[in-house]
Amino acid sequence: MTGPLVCKQVRDVTHDMRTFVFEASEPALFRHDPGQYLTFTFEIDGQEIDRCYTLSSPPSRPLLASITVKRVPGGRVSNWLHDHLTPGDVVRARGPLGGFSTARHPAPAYLFLSGGSGITPLMSMTRTLYDLASPADVVFVHSARTPDDIPFRQELELMAATAPHIRVAHVCEDDGAVERWDGHRGRLTLDVLRQIAPDLPRREVFTCGPQGYMRAIRRMLATAGLPEDRCHEESFEAPAPAAVKATGDTSFAVRLSRSGATIACDTGTPLLEAAARAGITLPSSCGQGLCGTCVTTLEKGTVDMRPGGGLRPGDVARNKILLCCSTPLEDLVIDA
Ligand SMILES: Cc1cc2nc3c(=O)[nH]c(=O)nc-3n(C[C@H](O)[C@H](O)[C@H](O)COP(=O)(O)OP(=O)(O)OC[C@H]3O[C@@H](n4cnc5c(N)ncnc54)[C@H](O)[C@@H]3O)c2cc1C
Ligand code: FES
Repeated sequence: MTGPLVCKQVRDVTHDMRTFVFEASEPALFRHDPGQYLTFTFEIDGQEIDRCYTLSSPPSRPLLASITVKRVPGGRVSNWLHDHLTPGDVVRARGPLGGFSTARHPAPAYLFLSGGSGITPLMSMTRTLYDLASPADVVFVHSARTPDDIPFRQELELMAATAPHIRVAHVCEDDGAVERWDGHRGRLTLDVLRQIAPDLPRREVFTCGPQGYMRAIRRMLATAGLPEDRCHEESFEAPAPAAVKATGDTSFAVRLSRSGATIACDTGTPLLEAAARAGITLPSSCGQGLCGTCVTTLEKGTVDMRPGGGLRPGDVARNKILLCCSTPLEDLVIDA
C-alpha cells in the first residue's frame, strides 16, 4: 500500500473529528487487516512530518481507504489535516502496520472498548464483521464526554439494528449542547461493563483510547478475571519520556556517523530520547516501536530493542534498529 494516495472526500464525523477518504493514485485494492494503520508523511510548511493513522475503513470495502482524525488541541498534523486537506490533494503513506486486529485473534465473542479517537480500529473491525455477516458476537462500548462527541453514532446504531450479533452501548460523562443524556452516565466502571456484557469473561477484548482510560480498563479486566492473553490494546499516544534516571546506570557513548555528533545514553534511556535530550531531533512518530519512522542502521555495537511491529521481516538481519525502543548495551555507532 506504500505510495501516493489521492484524497477523494472529506466527511464530518463530529464537531472535532473528520474522515478523509483516499483512493490509490494507480488503480489498486487496499489490502489490510481491520485495525491496522498507515504511517503518513505530510509536507507541512516545507517540512516532512510523519504520523500514524488507523484505517477506519474495513478491508471488506477495498476500493477506498479512510482515516478518521480527531483534532488534538495544539496538535500540528491533526489540525493541519482538518484545516487544509481537501479532495484532490495527494499524500504519501506506507503500511499497513500493526497486529491489533480481530484477524490475528479470531474468537466467537468480542468486547470492543474505546474512548476518543481510539474508536477507529474498532470501527474497522466492526464494519468488517458486519460486512462479512460474521456470526461472532460483538459488544461495542464507546466512552465519550457528551453525546455530541460520539463518532459514527448513527452507523453503529444501524449495524446494531440490522445485524443479529452486534450490540452497541455508549457511556457519556455529561449532556450534549441540546441532547439530554439518558444512557450510562459518568465514566465506565466494572459494574456498568458487567451490566452491558454480563458474559464479559468469555470475550476477547480489544481496547483503544487515552492512556488514563486504558489504565482504568486494564484494572477492570484484571478484576473481572480476564486472562491477559485475551486482552489486546493499542495506544495512539507516545509514552511520556521517562524521568531522568538517578545516577548509577551505566552510560555509553553513541556516535551519530552522519552528523558526527557523539551523545551519552544510559542503559535505561531509548536512543531517540537521549538524542532529544542532547538537542538532536531525529525523525519519529509513534514513540512506541510501531510505525518504523525512527528506523536506522546500527553500524557498531549491540542494543536491547523492544519493537512493537515497526520493523519489516529481515530488518534485524540488516542491522536495522528502531531508535525509540532501543537502549544501548555498549558503545554504539548509528547511521544518523
Ligand atoms: C498506531 C497509531 C494509530 C493512530 N491512529 C489514529 C487515528 O485513527 N485517529 C487519530 O485521530 N489519531 C490517531 N493516532 C494519533 C496520531 O498519530 C497523532 O498522534 C495525533 O493526530 C496528534 O498529532 P498532532 O501532530 O496533531 O499532535 P502533536 O503536535 O504531535 O502533539 C501535540 C500535543 O498533543 C499530545 N498528543 C499527541 N497525540 C495525542 C493523542 N492521540 N491524544 C491526546 N494527546 C495527544 C502530545 O503529547 C503533544 O503534547 C494514531 C497514533 C498511533 C501511534
Ligand atoms: S517512532 Fe514509531 S517506531 Fe519509533
